Amino acid sequence: MLIWLDEYAIDGASIDELHQELFLITNKLTKAIEEEDNLFIADLFDTLEMYTLYHFAGEEEVMEKINYPVREEHKALHLALVQQLHLFKEKYFHRDITEFEEIKNFLEYWLKDHILVEDLKIRTFMQKNEKN
Ligand SMILES: [Fe+2]
Ligand SMILES: [Fe+2]
Repeated sequence: MLIWLDEYAIDGASIDELHQELFLITNKLTKAIEEEDNLFIADLFDTLEMYTLYHFAGEEEVMEKINYPVREEHKALHLALVQQLHLFKEKYFHRDITEFEEIKNFLEYWLKDHILVEDLKIRTFMQKNEKN
């Protein structure tokens, strides 16, 4: 289960709100996978994909606005994550049972790892700019 911690905060605003929302959806999805609640899983995968696209677009807008120097590289990471998420959704629906653990692990780490490594660099950049 993903638990939100204050240290994950990036902008204290829209980015954090969407990150928290994505945590909630991911938790619901991993629980549904554990319970093999297939109807709910299909819905949640779609919701997660939709919110992810929405969040990435918003975050990319923020990066443009603050002139974040490595925004193109960050955008490429977003695209790779969207593709990976889609791949795991496909894997799930092909009922490859051996992949269940892999899918759950992916869901629990992809977002957190991206926030803690890549998104935090945005915060560092914003903080540095505020001081100047
Ligand atoms: Fe993000
Ligand atoms: Fe990001």
